[in-house]
Amino acid sequence: METLNYLRIPPELLQAVLDNPFEGMVIIDDQGIIRHFSRANEPLYQITASEAVGRHIRDVIPTSGLPEVVHSGKPHFGDTFDMNGRKVIVNRYPIKLGGKIIGAVGKMIFHDLKAFIALKHKIGELENTVRRYELEIREIYRARYSFADVIGKSAKLNHAKDAAERLAASASPILLIGESGTGKEIFAHAIHQASSRRNHSFIRVNCASIPSELFESELFGYKAGAFTGALKSGKPGKFELAHRGTIFLDEVGELPLGLQAKLLRVLQEKEIEPLGSPRPKMIDFRVIAATNRDLEERVRTGYFRRDLFYRLNVISIQLPPLREIKEDIPVLAGHFLMKLRRRMSSSVSAIAPEVMAIFLAYDWPGNVRELENVMERALALCQDSTILPEHLPESFVRVRTDSASEGIKPKLNDDLLHLAVHDAERDQLLEALRRTGGNKTEAAALLNIHRTTLYFRIKKYGIKPVNIGRTGE
Ligand SMILES: Nc1ncnc2c1ncn2[C@@H]1O[C@H](COP(=O)(O)OP(=O)(O)OP(=O)(O)O)[C@@H](O)[C@H]1O
Ligand SMILES: [Mg+2]
Repeated sequence: METLNYLRIPPELLQAVLDNPFEGMVIIDDQGIIRHFSRANEPLYQITASEAVGRHIRDVIPTSGLPEVVHSGKPHFGDTFDMNGRKVIVNRYPIKLGGKIIGAVGKMIFHDLKAFIALKHKIGELENTVRRYELEIREIYRARYSFADVIGKSAKLNHAKDAAERLAASASPILLIGESGTGKEIFAHAIHQASSRRNHSFIRVNCASIPSELFESELFGYKAGAFTGALKSGKPGKFELAHRGTIFLDEVGELPLGLQAKLLRVLQEKEIEPLGSPRPKMIDFRVIAATNRDLEERVRTGYFRRDLFYRLNVISIQLPPLREIKEDIPVLAGHFLMKLRRRMSSSVSAIAPEVMAIFLAYDWPGNVRELENVMERALALCQDSTILPEHLPESFVRVRTDSASEGIKPKLNDDLLHLAVHDAERDQLLEALRRTGGNKTEAAALLNIHRTTLYFRIKKYGIKPVNIGRTGE
């Protein structure tokens, strides 16, 4: 009674707890004598509590595991045990006083296993659902491009491609720098695809388009009921979705200063705190950032945090603007011709030399994306088999006149043009042969040329079977 006084629990309250009707509880002392037998047990053992108390546990429950717990001092949780032909789940644990075992408690968790089995079943179903959603998320957030989709063989592009391929396997952050339309997004996908994280998500965050007030909930997520208007289920943030994968911070140079601090913290700590959650969560991610801005300049002018810049700029890869890799224009134009032909079910199969000349003279402020768009427009307009200058936008036709009459813009060298057309034609031929598995009749049909022309070109470009196999690139 002294102990009870010390606990300040009135004895009748304690009694009510021990004897509550929802729990079957048995307490024995170190001699195995029943000291407490809650009334919930009465119908199960067909003995009244007052009859049970004072008797040895084995007399009342012959199979009880409680004497063993007193003996070993070790608890047993979740044991199933048979009672009148029905299984029940029991937790048993020793009670100690001053390091000495003075007895043991047995508590029945489920009088009826049915409830337990139903719960287990439900959990199994939920686990399946989670697995299904994980697969779906992986599908939604997988990388869509690999290095095979990066077209071009200029030294500058190759340099970038080689570096990216080599660094894909490392865990370091990578900063992709390049003007709009130079392939930063393609590169980010390809790096993820070539890394050991390829089977996990690739999550793109457009730093230029997240409203400040939503930044934290978008990136770090929130728990159910974190704020009014929050989803009931809570929402995972982008970082959480990127767990074990790659997070691609696109247009990172546009991120407002206030948010840069928050981003830096996550990159340093590698943990997030979802709004409304009491605990931070460790996240394993790789960062790829991209910008078309001169970030160093932004740092100097105070628009970009120096510490964040250093954190992102561990390795930087510069993607060349198209005007600096003009030798790639023919092969890129040829690539888009092939790709768009298929998509648009067009029968256009060639690009007139004049068009290629204009392409080579043009400045391409929109880079590869602009080339892709121009090709798409031309294919849509072209009724015949060859793209002609008339299928190009106004501004392009002016390039031709300008460069022809006044010699401004990069001058078109006849040799270069010849080479370019040569290259484009050869690449188209190779692509057609590859896609038809070397079948010349089919390749000729694909290119919309006569078989004899095809033979002539194969000879002209010295194409050998080995060139069309997969051994080449
Ligand atoms: N080397 C390349 N080979 C094939 N396609 C390319 C290449 N570079 C860019 N592209 C294509 O050009 C388009 C623009 O590329 P991407 O979206 O990667 O550019 P970006 O650098 O992210 O541009 P922005 O800064 O405007 O977002 C895409 O359709 C992409 O597939
Ligand atoms: Mg982009």
